[in-house]
Amino acid sequence: MKTEGGPEAAKRRAGERAIETIEDGFVVGLGTGSTTAHAIRAIGRAVDDGLEIRGIPTSFQSRQLALEVGIPLTDLDAVDVVDLAIDGADQVLDDPDAATHGALIKGGGAAHAREKLVDTAADRFVVVADPSKLTDRLERPVPVEVLPDAHAVVAERVRTFGGEPTLRDAERKDGPVVTDNGNLVLDCGFGAIDDPDALATRLSRLPGVVEHGLFVGQADATYVGSDGGVEVRRY
Ligand code: A5P
Repeated sequence: MKTEGGPEAAKRRAGERAIETIEDGFVVGLGTGSTTAHAIRAIGRAVDDGLEIRGIPTSFQSRQLALEVGIPLTDLDAVDVVDLAIDGADQVLDDPDAATHGALIKGGGAAHAREKLVDTAADRFVVVADPSKLTDRLERPVPVEVLPDAHAVVAERVRTFGGEPTLRDAERKDGPVVTDNGNLVLDCGFGAIDDPDALATRLSRLPGVVEHGLFVGQADATYVGSDGGVEVRRY
């Protein structure tokens, strides 16, 4: 039998596996991005087959997709618990010897503020990824959502601790990306990040920062899809 391969198939395998633990009655956080989209579509098919859940989207994009595939939606302030959140990542620290094994960089789609809110509200937060996301060192620029008035001040502060901030430009619109929350995004390069926890704390303390894309100690597991199947990293 021919096996479907390539990055998209790997993402789909991860997304479809991650929904297997969903039970009737669950409230599920719906992450953002191309990998989570596979999970959302799979949940939609399960809902068609009778599964009774409610979803909490983390972005305009995930809300639109959830509505399209027929997932009933709710809000964080309307529920007592979020049972599970499923979300993608731009990088996943994959080093069992590191204290921050499983730390993430998120925000490639500028949705990390709501993602962090929903993902960390969940009893269980699982990441879905293909192998290209795994790394033994977090080193992508960290997306930092800032109040529009604060972008220059935050950029200056980030420079004082060695970061190189770049205001994220929009595509097919003149000017910057404006997030779902009406804010701007600074992509802050730090090179290889030796201490993600310390950097996360430092970024969180800056006035004008709404949220940054470092997720440290927050994921419970990563489902890594590949041509050969799905491996689960538990933290
Ligand atoms: C959205 O802002 C991000 O945090 C995404 O979850 C992340 O970029 C992963 O997206 P892909 O699954 O499309 O790579």
